[in-house]
Amino acid sequence: MSARIIPVQPFDYVVFGATGDLSKRKLIPALYYRFKAGQFDQRSRIIGVSRSPWDDRKMQEVARESVKNHVDKAYRDKKVIEDFVSCFSYVSNDVTDKKGWKEISDKLRDDEDIVRAFYLAVAPNLFAPICEYLMGMKYCRKNSRVVLEKPLGHDLASSREINDAVGAAFSEDQIYRIDHYLGKETVQNLLALRFANAMFEPIWNATHIDHVQITVAETVGAGTRGYYDDSGALRDMIQNHILQLLCLVAMEPPASDAPNALRDEKLKVLRSLKPITANNLAKYSVRGQYRGVRSGTVEVASYQDELPEDRKGSHTETFVAIKAEVENWRWSGVPFYIRTGKRLAARVSEIVIQFRDVPHSIFSQTHGAPRPNKLVIRLQPDEGVKLFLMIKDPGPGGMRLREVHLNLSFAEEFEERTPEAYERLLLDVIRGNQTLFMRRDELEAAWKWVDPIRNAWDEMDEPPHLYTAGTWGPTASVALIERDGRTWHEEEDY
Ligand code: BG6
Repeated sequence: MSARIIPVQPFDYVVFGATGDLSKRKLIPALYYRFKAGQFDQRSRIIGVSRSPWDDRKMQEVARESVKNHVDKAYRDKKVIEDFVSCFSYVSNDVTDKKGWKEISDKLRDDEDIVRAFYLAVAPNLFAPICEYLMGMKYCRKNSRVVLEKPLGHDLASSREINDAVGAAFSEDQIYRIDHYLGKETVQNLLALRFANAMFEPIWNATHIDHVQITVAETVGAGTRGYYDDSGALRDMIQNHILQLLCLVAMEPPASDAPNALRDEKLKVLRSLKPITANNLAKYSVRGQYRGVRSGTVEVASYQDELPEDRKGSHTETFVAIKAEVENWRWSGVPFYIRTGKRLAARVSEIVIQFRDVPHSIFSQTHGAPRPNKLVIRLQPDEGVKLFLMIKDPGPGGMRLREVHLNLSFAEEFEERTPEAYERLLLDVIRGNQTLFMRRDELEAAWKWVDPIRNAWDEMDEPPHLYTAGTWGPTASVALIERDGRTWHEEEDY
């Protein structure tokens, strides 16, 4: 079945931080793909706002460049690009300067039925002043929405401050907190896999599942991104993306796909996470930082080398592994091993559901012991689902067992391009569908779990374990899982 394109009504999208990297690399290309697919047309307006002294022409030029650099060649079409960039205009505005705000008013349409979305792709300390102005200028009305990019604070207290400030201008059902992982096709597929197939739910529990692994590994480094050294992998990846994945795996079936039905269930998971504090930190967590490699012509700088002089010696972690536990009936005794890092051996994000051994093997050792089944959900790259099963090795020679996998590769199964996460999310804002966005209480529950880990590390003030760039992280992370008699899942095609 091919994708169904349901056009949205004309909208006014105001993008604060339009000159930034996110806008050029992700937002503009995502909007282009939707425009090309016919989901919106030239009746919609995209208004870039930033401090740079650009004008409409420059904004349109940048939009054109961004399509050229970040959209697949097969989808670039001269006429469509020109129509698309004609939707763009620009306002140069320092948020403290009232003049710029007046110009934004001039570009917005009065028609109450037109959805107005304010996308804040700016530093979080600007969220409050921008929302104050939006409120002061009476921009917030029934059909207005605000979209918040991460980081949504650096701890519970700062995230509450942001939520309070934004909440003073917009009601919760107008606030769209982006976690782009939720927009990934394969992440949404996790919902389809769990709740559109009857076979998994009866075995999706501690009786049948031994443990779960979630890995988000990247090969890129981090050091040159100013923000990263203040954040580290725990805040950058675990607090949001990985906890959201964990929630989707662990949550109870929601009664429907209504936004709050799903978000209520995710919240319960977050609130059931066993706290990790200074007392059990060593048993449950490992953090690492990459060191460089010099071998022949290959030279990769260490995290420390990438840092500016005044940051040298930083203890910021570029790798984290945690053994998380969801303390409820379904998951009692089932660890969730989660790990993420920069400069790892491969770029791969996947979820592994490791089932338990058969209760009794009728096969003697000489046949090869049956291995427990495993379901691997590959989020990226090479999106797909693999089910590891035992079969009889074909041919004579007695009953010999062999492990094989049923492989569902999305690229092979579907001819269509896998849409980027932002394509779905940007238009969900216009459609008014909050299912794939984080609610305030979810965000705060995630910080509540993460803060004690962060605080305990900070109080210890010890350097993270070093690992060599291009490996799977510090050996301590291998020990974390092997202490429990388990190993990290790794495949040959990484
Ligand atoms: C971002 C993090 O949220 O997600 C980055 O800030 C990270 O550090 C990125 O590289 C990973 O996203 P993706 O979609 O490339 O897996």
